[in-house]
Amino acid sequence: MRFERRNLLGLEELERGEIESILDTAESFVEISERPLKKVPVLRGMTVVNLFFEPSTRTRISFEIAEKRLSADTVNFAATTSSAVKGESLKDTARNIESMGIDMLVIRHSAPGAAAYLAGVLDCPVINAGDGAHEHPTQALLDLFTVRRRRGRIDGLNVLIVGDILHSRVARSNVFGFSKLGAAVTVCGPPTLIPPGIEDLGAKVSFDLLEALPEADVVMVLRIQRERLGDCFFPTLREYSDLFGLDEKKMELAKSDVTVMHPGPINRGVEMTPGVADGPYSVILGQVKYGLAVRMAVLYLLSGGELSSEDTY
Ligand code: NCD
Repeated sequence: MRFERRNLLGLEELERGEIESILDTAESFVEISERPLKKVPVLRGMTVVNLFFEPSTRTRISFEIAEKRLSADTVNFAATTSSAVKGESLKDTARNIESMGIDMLVIRHSAPGAAAYLAGVLDCPVINAGDGAHEHPTQALLDLFTVRRRRGRIDGLNVLIVGDILHSRVARSNVFGFSKLGAAVTVCGPPTLIPPGIEDLGAKVSFDLLEALPEADVVMVLRIQRERLGDCFFPTLREYSDLFGLDEKKMELAKSDVTVMHPGPINRGVEMTPGVADGPYSVILGQVKYGLAVRMAVLYLLSGGELSSEDTY
């Protein structure tokens, strides 16, 4: 059986079964990165372009390594050194690149809907690597994958997402993903950073971390998206940190087997102390590790690969 979608734009549009199929397929890709020779010929002869209009460390490198481990030829585009600075439109940039015969395009852009827009004007599959505050589907897939591996299930877990929910594409994609897979999701932060109507997406809302933390099986901490904060959303970072930063003292309220996550980049001392980020509950580097397998699975499926958890490549 093949994956029915041509593009990966967000988790809002995916069915539970489709999300589970991607996660199952990713299982078979974990082991490739543990081999001495970390390369399989799945995308040999294909060219993938990574079009990044916003800064990125993990996601860009993860896509590039995933593509290389699948034997694709990869090209990285950074907006600052491209003709975008000369005023070329997104559509023209992408269609010119497509004319060179590429097979897949990965895009990160500050405009919500940028990936969906390109999917409408290009013939090749498009993968959304983050579009403004809208969605970041591969991040949520790797978060789901990490929790499934760590906890053995997602169904029935209480997932608490803490921080700047309003500006976070990671929060939105994770609310969709975890809710669809049967977890109860609560978002927590100052009222100014909780988007109105988030309950309609399937999340409960809490403004009190001390109250919400004891119930959580998984705590996902998010960065304050300072680049997207136009106005003043809270008085000082220090006050934010006192109320919503995860530190060792607040962790005493958490369950003894709680799982702590963060998509990175971490602002240590703001949303999380180093002791928590590097502590025994943290799976933050596991998220990064599994991100590779999840992105390899997404690239493989969108290139026409079979859905499977059994195959070896
Ligand atoms: C996130 C992003 O860019 O949306 N990071 C990531 O991709 N791992 C989160 C963030 O920037 O805070």
